[in-house]
Amino acid sequence: MIKLHDKFFKPFISAKQIDEALQKMVDQIAVDFADEIPVFVGILNGSFMIVSDFVKKYPNPCEVTFIKLASYEGVKSTEDIQRLIGLTQDLTGRTVIILEDIIDSGRTLAEVHRIFKNEKVKSLSIATLFFKPTAYKRDFKLHYVGIEIPDKFIVGYGLDYDGLGRDLPEVYQIKTTQHMTNLVLFGPPGAGKGTQANFLKEKYNLVHISTGDVFRFNIKNETALGMLAKSYMDKGELVPDEVTIDMLSAEVEKNAAANGFIFDGFPRTDAQAAALDALMQSKDSEISAMIALEVEDQILIDRLLERGKTSGRSDDADESIIANRIKEYYKKTAILKDYYAGQNKYFGVNGVGSIEEITERLSAVIDTL
Ligand code: IMP
Ligand code: MG
Repeated sequence: MIKLHDKFFKPFISAKQIDEALQKMVDQIAVDFADEIPVFVGILNGSFMIVSDFVKKYPNPCEVTFIKLASYEGVKSTEDIQRLIGLTQDLTGRTVIILEDIIDSGRTLAEVHRIFKNEKVKSLSIATLFFKPTAYKRDFKLHYVGIEIPDKFIVGYGLDYDGLGRDLPEVYQIKTTQHMTNLVLFGPPGAGKGTQANFLKEKYNLVHISTGDVFRFNIKNETALGMLAKSYMDKGELVPDEVTIDMLSAEVEKNAAANGFIFDGFPRTDAQAAALDALMQSKDSEISAMIALEVEDQILIDRLLERGKTSGRSDDADESIIANRIKEYYKKTAILKDYYAGQNKYFGVNGVGSIEEITERLSAVIDTL
């Protein structure tokens, strides 16, 4: 991932892929114009990189020139395109091939056609390395297209975001969600996970996604996913991961502008952790860390017995049931600890102390992410 000005970009098209696409264009054009000496016209600034690489590969004699057409400021095409500058050469009777880095709305291309209408060229062909079909609003023919891409802002290989990124040899795509802090929070029963999640949510402006709450919400509101989940639960079967992931996906989608998420109660298995990774990736994001509160068993048992005296929760009253719950917890989390440790994302935090002390320890970890 890279950052230019205020925006994050992720790797999108490698230097090798660009080279291969370019080679194909060269091969086609060299065949189509085998008997001619074409004039390749680059549109500055963006096209300097493709023109240079293109003509180095071009096997036959050719001429190269540039025109400048400053049309772009920041992320959006500006309405009024400045006039072409630099077309000083007489191109009467010549075979002209425009070499563009990218064609987006086609506005620049319209200007090119407008300019060349008065030049008595033999032929005018358009070649572009990148093309955004869904953004294209004109119907000028594009004779050679290297790579079709979705309508998302890219940088690199001549293309810039507000001046930066032109020098990159590969292409990066803007991240639709910007940098997030996504935590998977773990803690054995009685570790104070809920309390800490509430503090962290406030402090870092994160959205707390508790799988239990998400299930209850979907079932209570009879959403399609809720009804689907319920149909499994009614049969006494486990809800398939896919259904849970779809519910979480909807939660993430609903809160797309959040600074990040605290996942609580999910994942519980390797497969779920991998599915969560895939989900975050589809949102242009990732899990930043798994944080586990660590508390000695005997302290947990004492705390839960204490809670059992007032909470009325029967499972908080029996020492052997509590001990079993704790054992279950470690059995399950051991797998996930390995999973996240393998990605250098596991952080154990001492969960013994005052609420403030523990919040501080958690914050110390989050602040390093
Ligand atoms: P069009 O006139 O809308 O087709 O846009 C063409 C010009 O806009 C290109 O020559 C680029 O300078 C710029 N442009 C379009 N899309 C992008 C992009 O994704 N990244 C960087 N520049 C772009
Ligand atoms: Mg351009």
